[in-house]
Amino acid sequence: MGEPRNIKNSAFKIETPLALPDDEVQVWRVDLESLRADEARWQKVLSPDETSRASRFHFAVDRQRFVAARALLRTILGGYLTTEPKDLTFAYSKRDKPFLGPAYADRGITFNLSHSGGIALYAFARGRELGIDVEQVRRDFDVEAIARRFFSAHEQEQLADLPATERIEAFFRCWTRKEAYIKATGDGLSLPLTQFDVSLAEGSTDALVETRPDSAEAKHWLLREVPAGTGYVAALCVRGQDWNLSDWSAMRSSAEAGLSGGERSADRF
Ligand SMILES: CC(C)(COP(=O)(O)OP(=O)(O)OC[C@H]1O[C@@H](n2cnc3c(N)ncnc32)[C@H](O)[C@@H]1OP(=O)(O)O)[C@@H](O)C(=O)NCCC(=O)NCCS
Repeated sequence: MGEPRNIKNSAFKIETPLALPDDEVQVWRVDLESLRADEARWQKVLSPDETSRASRFHFAVDRQRFVAARALLRTILGGYLTTEPKDLTFAYSKRDKPFLGPAYADRGITFNLSHSGGIALYAFARGRELGIDVEQVRRDFDVEAIARRFFSAHEQEQLADLPATERIEAFFRCWTRKEAYIKATGDGLSLPLTQFDVSLAEGSTDALVETRPDSAEAKHWLLREVPAGTGYVAALCVRGQDWNLSDWSAMRSSAEAGLSGGERSADRF
């Protein structure tokens, strides 16, 4: 069995109800590559629109990862809300950011997710706008050319100042931090990527350096690196400064944590 908040295979268990204190942001990691083979099981909790979206993927691997990612989103949210995963409904902003649907919106849980390669990261909080982004570190493209196109002048300078051997990881730190911020605001790529600067420093817990034209905007958010596992880089952006991160990598094993009889086995699907 995997550790709580680090779901490594289909034999995970989820405590019900899951605790989510007001001042906490909880990050989960899910190994989609291990879960995707159980597609028929995950399909059972999806809504018709999610099933229809899944059917449009060209490659089976992408479809299976999407299905597993949505099913696990529903399963974890079901744990927080003490609701059957398949009963949950979602609403979408005009830029496609998902939220809990009207029937659950008054419960105040906010979330965001990201997937890359074989994993997904999920962030959950109470009443806080947030965005999370994970990227698998790849070494097969021209980081300078992409940086020139998408990064601000300050970010390009930070990248250029680094030794060549450190640039790829720094590039992905920048990319995930910019994505986490635009996902938190919900603006997506409609927010010009050169209108804000992030720090490329490793391990930064306060990486939103500058916002333009309103410099006060940067103070409303906390943007930080989060652990994602070997070969991945990730960032989390949350509105407000008064929160603590509780992430998958800091969790004790379930045996140590002494899960109660309220835990729910994923085998119920
Ligand atoms: C859609 C976008 C919000 C994220 O795309 P992405 O990084 O490719 O994908 P991720 O896996 O990180 O996130 C996708 C998830 O974010 C959520 N999402 C979708 N639109 C969103 C939005 N506007 N705001 C926040 N979250 C959103 C969804 O849950 C989606 O998952 P789904 O498959 O369950 O629907 C958007 O930022 C985008 O198109 N990015 C393209 C990449 C790019 O050019 N980035 C430049 C960075 S320097």
